[in-house]
Amino acid sequence: MQVTLKIFRYDPEKDTNGHYETYSMQAEPTDRVLDMLEFVKGTIDGTLSFRRSCAHGICGSDAMLINGSNRLACKTLAQELGNEITVAPIMGLKVIKDLIVDMEPFFNNYKEVLPYFINESPLPEDGKERLQSQEARAVFDDTTKCILCAACTTSCPSFWASDDYFGPAAFVTAHRFIFDSRDEAASERLQIISETSGLARCHTVFNCTMACPREIQITKAIGELKLATITGKVR
Ligand code: SF4
Ligand code: F3S
Ligand code: FES
Repeated sequence: MQVTLKIFRYDPEKDTNGHYETYSMQAEPTDRVLDMLEFVKGTIDGTLSFRRSCAHGICGSDAMLINGSNRLACKTLAQELGNEITVAPIMGLKVIKDLIVDMEPFFNNYKEVLPYFINESPLPEDGKERLQSQEARAVFDDTTKCILCAACTTSCPSFWASDDYFGPAAFVTAHRFIFDSRDEAASERLQIISETSGLARCHTVFNCTMACPREIQITKAIGELKLATITGKVR
């Protein structure tokens, strides 16, 4: 198929504002946006800058605004998009160069929710592991799937308004630990996400759920967190 690929370009050493450049190419319907970006970088303009690593939907580094929706470039095929494809950086974060944004505010918000297992109690007598039933594990299974791509947070209007809003990705991680029956810091995390940059600024817009490449039910998870902050119950 013949593809016209419009890519947002911005070089801080040359441009005051970004602009779009257009590239024409032949592509297979099963080519991914990442393949097309690699083609441009490898054969037309080596200065094109974008992040990618695994190329298989695992590392979360290549979230981009593709034809108006946040997606992973390595999981989005030409045949899903048609002959005209527009690629821009994810929104709400400062553009460093071309499709690369400054992820620092995103990861700072993530760190705020204590994104690690906390349990200071002694280990069981056999000293091996803290057991958990399959039912208890299932409660937070969905939110273990996050790859920190930021597609959710950068599609949320509350985050566009202010990047100190924790955002859905941070809530997904908070959910993963708050509802883990082996973790002991649920109340501390609930307190953190109840602060002014927290849950109250989620207006149930659902953009996050629509954007998630891992199909995590983010808005549902946020609803469970909101309920937990009211009832204090997580088990
Ligand atoms: Fe990406 Fe989904 Fe995780 Fe958000 S919840 S960072 S969209 S994987
Ligand atoms: Fe934003 Fe998702 Fe809430 S898009 S407003 S975090 S439901
Ligand atoms: Fe790793 Fe796309 S390059 S998720």
